[in-house]
Amino acid sequence: MKFGLALSSVLILLSQVDGEYLSEIKIRPDAVHNNFKSPLPHTYLESSNLPDSFSWGDVNGVSYLTHSLNQHIPQYCGSCWAHGALSSLADRIKIARLGKGDDINLSIQFILNCGTETAGSCHGGYHASTYEFIQERGYVPYDTCMSYLACSDESTEGFCPLVDTTCSSNNICRTCDTFGGMGGACTEIDFFPNATVAEYGMIEYDDNVVTNIMTEIYVRGPVAATINAEPIVGYQGGIFTDDSYSQESNHIVSIVGWEMDEETGKQAWLVRNSWGQYWGEMGYMRLEVGKNLLGIEGEVAWATPGSFTVHNFPCSENGANCNQGGSVVGTHHYVDPSNKLEELHARVAQDHKQALMKKQLKEQAGKRALR
Ligand SMILES: *[C@@H]1O[C@H](CO)[C@@H](O)[C@H](O)[C@H]1NC(C)=O
Ligand SMILES: *[C@@H]1O[C@H](CO)[C@@H](O)[C@H](O)[C@H]1NC(C)=O
Repeated sequence: MKFGLALSSVLILLSQVDGEYLSEIKIRPDAVHNNFKSPLPHTYLESSNLPDSFSWGDVNGVSYLTHSLNQHIPQYCGSCWAHGALSSLADRIKIARLGKGDDINLSIQFILNCGTETAGSCHGGYHASTYEFIQERGYVPYDTCMSYLACSDESTEGFCPLVDTTCSSNNICRTCDTFGGMGGACTEIDFFPNATVAEYGMIEYDDNVVTNIMTEIYVRGPVAATINAEPIVGYQGGIFTDDSYSQESNHIVSIVGWEMDEETGKQAWLVRNSWGQYWGEMGYMRLEVGKNLLGIEGEVAWATPGSFTVHNFPCSENGANCNQGGSVVGTHHYVDPSNKLEELHARVAQDHKQALMKKQLKEQAGKRALR
């Protein structure tokens, strides 16, 4: 069942009144959910090319997934939307770098500090609006100069009343050079390693939604998705198949692939949550594909990186000479897969070969067991 976005926000308000799982989804009435020009992957890759199972966590033994996060420490913050959105974007950067180098981790706190109006706060937001905000703003810093505090301007949880999370230069990217008692100070960094968003959008909820989500993930990388979190608070692992719950969502996660269950022949989405690795299957869950269970297929958002810094402009430890950036930097410019179709077709052929080999090995093992 599909709910219009306006309708689903009304339902979210109602469920808050009911005192159920507090919704972390908030959508601005004037939010722009699509801003892209490149053709969508399903327009140039036939769904028959998709593998039965595929995960960015294991592409022939290599993981292109960035770290698992916990949005709820040092104190509770309803920032799932920023976590789902930035984890998927960071994965796509890792894919573009072919997994090389230290992972680029994007600053969620910057989004909370500066994207409060556009993207969201500790009291809810939206994945597509996070991409809209970064695209408009022109950058998201790496988290080595703005780490996660789990606070936004209106938060009263934990130590939040004591910290300034307004969008000042100090709260975009900063460093502190020594102890205050020794004359140290925290200074803004004006030019810093960052990533941009080239294009973003949401996958239309229609009859082809499942293959369109799969094609998007397979061709370009993980996506952000909504979910009804109430039934999964106590999730103990395994494939979630219960269709008796509401598809009205209140939480945001990311989908990193899917898996075919050999015994049942059913496919399951591989979903990364932002509740720490003690939850679910090391921070992940599996959810049956194709029934919009818990609303997982209803509002899927994606973004492609524009560019990201790979060599910094060198600044001193105290940030003193950091005001002439842009002159000596290395930037990786992302190329949308629609512009390199031979590469995509080579990947598809390689995956078919691998799948065939796995199948043959299994059959041989089966025959041996029968003897
Ligand atoms: C990004 O996070 C991962 C996991 O915590 C870490 O191994 C990596 O060093 C981080 N990258 C940077 C540049 O800090
Ligand atoms: C973002 O990084 C690019 C290089 O990748 C640089 O030219 C630009 O100045 C940086 N933006 C900011 C605000 O530091």
